[in-house]
Amino acid sequence: MRDIYLYEDSDVLKNLLNIKDKTLLDEAEADYVTYRLKEIAMCPLPGDYDYAHLLKMHQYIFQDIYEWAGKQRKLNIYKEEPVLGGLSVDYSDLFDIPKDSERVLSEMRDKAWKSMDKHEAAIQFSDSLAKLWRVHPFREGNTRTTVTFCCQYADAVGLNPNRELFEDNAQYVRTALVAYNAVFDDLGNKSKPEYLIKIVEDSITRDKW
Ligand SMILES: Nc1ncnc2c1ncn2[C@@H]1O[C@H](COP(=O)(O)OP(=O)(O)OP(=O)(O)O)[C@@H](O)[C@H]1O
Ligand SMILES: [Mg+2]
Repeated sequence: MRDIYLYEDSDVLKNLLNIKDKTLLDEAEADYVTYRLKEIAMCPLPGDYDYAHLLKMHQYIFQDIYEWAGKQRKLNIYKEEPVLGGLSVDYSDLFDIPKDSERVLSEMRDKAWKSMDKHEAAIQFSDSLAKLWRVHPFREGNTRTTVTFCCQYADAVGLNPNRELFEDNAQYVRTALVAYNAVFDDLGNKSKPEYLIKIVEDSITRDKW
């Protein structure tokens, strides 16, 4: 099926900058996003940590680049992953995105963050982050949006995660998110949560434990 997000006969996402070269778009996107992420780190984006807030986060981060910033994707997603032997994570079906997001976020908001020790907080934060990432509400930019959103939430509940650790190890984080979500209808549960929990635990800097 044709991907309505791409320029005709190309693998470049339609963008507000009208860039039709993939490398140039990646570079421009990275520049704008870095700037927006710094703004958010300094000045948190207000909201209730619900689905509307997540959409707003994506809108803010990608406002300079995509017309559909802050809008849910209109296609189902399948991405072959070398670490899954070419299979894809089972991303949420298009029609389940709002409901799946709200469920994960409501569960995250209900967790007793203040009474957890550091290891338990790392386990629970990883679980919420990975489950939200599995939904993949957007055509592009899901990892940056969910990591930033969950880190801002973690700040709000006093975990003080070091966001630079996620940024500097983006490839590791993405692979860890894939490994966490290696759960399949036919092959069963192959989830490996430990990689994500490790970097999350390293990132948490709350000093009161
Ligand atoms: N937390 C982060 N902070 C800053 N940059 C990030 C972060 N995570 C990933 N990146 C960078 O964003 C670029 C795109 O990464 P990637 O395609 O894995 O994620 P995404 O576009 O945000 O999400 P997805 O493609 O899964 O929808 C890469 O150059 C990567 O280094
Ligand atoms: Mg991407």
